[in-house]
Amino acid sequence: MTLALIAPGWDTRAWAEAIRAAAPDRDLRVFPELGATDEIDYALVWKPPHGLLRTLPSLTAVFNLGAGVDHLLADESLPDVPIVRVVDPNLTQRMSEYVLLHVLMHHRRQRLYDAQQARRVWRDRKQWAAERLRVGVMGLGVLGTDAATKLALVGFDVAGWSRTEKRIEGIATFHGQGGLAPFLARTDILVSLLPLTPETKGLLNRSLFEKLAHDGVLGGPVLINCGRGGAQVEADILAALEDGTLSAATLDVFEEEPLPPASPLWNHPRVTITPHNAADSEPEALAAYVLGEIGRFEAGEALRNRVDRARGY
Ligand code: NDP
Ligand code: OXD
Repeated sequence: MTLALIAPGWDTRAWAEAIRAAAPDRDLRVFPELGATDEIDYALVWKPPHGLLRTLPSLTAVFNLGAGVDHLLADESLPDVPIVRVVDPNLTQRMSEYVLLHVLMHHRRQRLYDAQQARRVWRDRKQWAAERLRVGVMGLGVLGTDAATKLALVGFDVAGWSRTEKRIEGIATFHGQGGLAPFLARTDILVSLLPLTPETKGLLNRSLFEKLAHDGVLGGPVLINCGRGGAQVEADILAALEDGTLSAATLDVFEEEPLPPASPLWNHPRVTITPHNAADSEPEALAAYVLGEIGRFEAGEALRNRVDRARGY
């Protein structure tokens, strides 16, 4: 069975090497050299050019080489074959590291000490116990649940919000539109791990920031977005930082990526920016995952971690 690797913006050499190591007997074609397109059974993709998958007549399944499928689903000509996304401990662990790092950074006010160090200032600031910080995780899927659980283990007072009802030990859970306001009202640090869908587009906006807790120890709520940039309204984040509706933000994802050099977010003193790498897709780990899933499928088992197109994630 023939595989096609279609990931135009990536270092496809490293991915091809990892896929060949995981499946030495497979015929692997690497975009743009796809050869006879009617021979391709499985497409392993990251942001494939829209319209391309439609030209592969024998396609049996698409394996998205990341967790988020918004770019893929935006392809109006996407063929009607199963789409499988990444659910792998390697990616999940990376995301939880990122969330822990940035929640702790805001909690322990590390940016303030960085600024003091630059001026050779020795000044101790007040500290609070982690249990005084109410962290709210939006999206309690694979990544949100792991991050929330690990935050609770560190001692934070953690809640989560999802579309459907969830029960997670040690986490206060809220769901749906009705659960959003009470969830926000008890949140000092908001972590978004939402997928980008028509419902989540622009959700992280001024009206939502106003509903966050404004009586917390940090002096104002903090936003951490490591889900998708399309869920945030950057003009509202900047305005909220100016008038104290937000006290700080960590942003890994942006409305436009790469973040344009002219964006005022770059040099805002209370914004921490990372280049959409909160959780990188590692070739070796994810090639092993995808080839493992194909092996199970060819042995007659059902595909797991399928994307629900109607839901959008
Ligand atoms: P999942 O599909 O496992 O979880 C998505 C969660 O979001 C679910 O809990 C779902 O609710 C919730 N959700 C979706 N829509 C809504 C809504 N309208 N209202 C409330 N909750 C909603 O995804 P993952 O956890 O695996 O990944 C989450 C996202 O993280 C990805 O879609 C991707 O965009 C982003 N990501 C970012 C990376 C980075 O490097 N910055 C790396 C990897 C992923 P329910 O459980 O009820 O269905
Ligand atoms: C993903 C990502 O969705 O890296 O996996 O953004």
